[in-house]
Amino acid sequence: MAVMVQCEYSGEGLKKRPEAKRRRRAYFARFNPYKPDGPSSTLESSHGVSWERNRLLGKGGFGYVFLARRRKKRAGVLGRQENQEAGELPLFLAVKSATSVDSLSLVHEKRVFHDLQRGSCPYILKCYGREVAELTSGDKIYNLLLEYCSGFNLEHWIIDSGTGLPESHVKRYVRDIVKGLKYIHGRGYVHCDIKPSNILLVPIKKRMPTGYLAKIGDFGLAMSIKEGEEGEKIEGMRGTPSYMSPELVREKQIGYGADIWALGCSMVEMLSGKSAWYSAGGNQSVNGDALLHIIGYTDYLPQLPSSASNDALDFMSKCLCRNPQERWSAEKLLGHPFLYREDPKRCNLIVLD
Ligand SMILES: Nc1ncnc2c1ncn2[C@@H]1O[C@H](COP(=O)(O)OP(=O)(O)O)[C@@H](O)[C@H]1O
Ligand SMILES: [Mg+2]
Repeated sequence: MAVMVQCEYSGEGLKKRPEAKRRRRAYFARFNPYKPDGPSSTLESSHGVSWERNRLLGKGGFGYVFLARRRKKRAGVLGRQENQEAGELPLFLAVKSATSVDSLSLVHEKRVFHDLQRGSCPYILKCYGREVAELTSGDKIYNLLLEYCSGFNLEHWIIDSGTGLPESHVKRYVRDIVKGLKYIHGRGYVHCDIKPSNILLVPIKKRMPTGYLAKIGDFGLAMSIKEGEEGEKIEGMRGTPSYMSPELVREKQIGYGADIWALGCSMVEMLSGKSAWYSAGGNQSVNGDALLHIIGYTDYLPQLPSSASNDALDFMSKCLCRNPQERWSAEKLLGHPFLYREDPKRCNLIVLD
């Protein structure tokens, strides 16, 4: 059993749905190979005070993300205080975990979530708090408790599509992302790692045409910019090379425009099913220094998908301006015709915010 060292919650409750209880229990038992109350010698087998770790959802550069289930409130197993805390968590959550050596990014991410969640925004992932647990070896595990997005990430759907997503779906996802970016930038943060694998999807039945709400996640590289400091030089580069902006590669300058450039690259990928820089290497993927050279030191621009509508092409060109001063802000993009003009045939099906 992992020993609880510290915990901190800031969550909201989830409505009980007793009719689905039995099905959920069976589902959970199918995937959970770990004994909740057994000794925990590894990260994978450790559980929280008020939640049980389940299957692996994803692995990135900074941590492992697991599905977790809130523990049942059982007298004798959980103390009164823990019961109250468990009550604040939804039934299912995602737990991003790292050992103490690798936990710096998670500690930073928690701080960013704390700053961003002073207001509320449906287009960014919710964080319910954090827990630090200790393994039998004495090693500590840092756990970030997050809203569970059962619709996978956007990259998954792009790969699944093979040749790209329908434009009506891209419109919906991009609108959600731009709204999320407007919120993040309005609070003085640059995300610094906008890309399809960091966009998580929550199924919402009536949300036509995609059936999903897109949320920005993974704030591990997010940077706060104080007023007047936009365009500051940073040490080293941060982000994922194929989504990095020219000024970031060349001058190590970071500003809100870096996220807009990355959005443009992500949108090319959504529409074409291929990396924005695919054609730069003569239809072969370019990586490493060769890619950074193209981004930072040439006039080359990502090739926009020819099948896209004029509105979509214009929207991407406003994101992919090499000069960051000419790039549109998230707020300005929200007024772009691509986002507000609907396909007339689908107009009555689309639920607008
Ligand atoms: N809240 C979540 N719900 C469902 N899956 C998630 C959630 N958070 C992350 N994942 C999955 O785990 C992957 C890695 O998570 P991420 O936060 O991006 O970690 P890293 O910082 O290591 O890149 C994501 O691409 C996604 O597939
Ligand atoms: Mg990630």
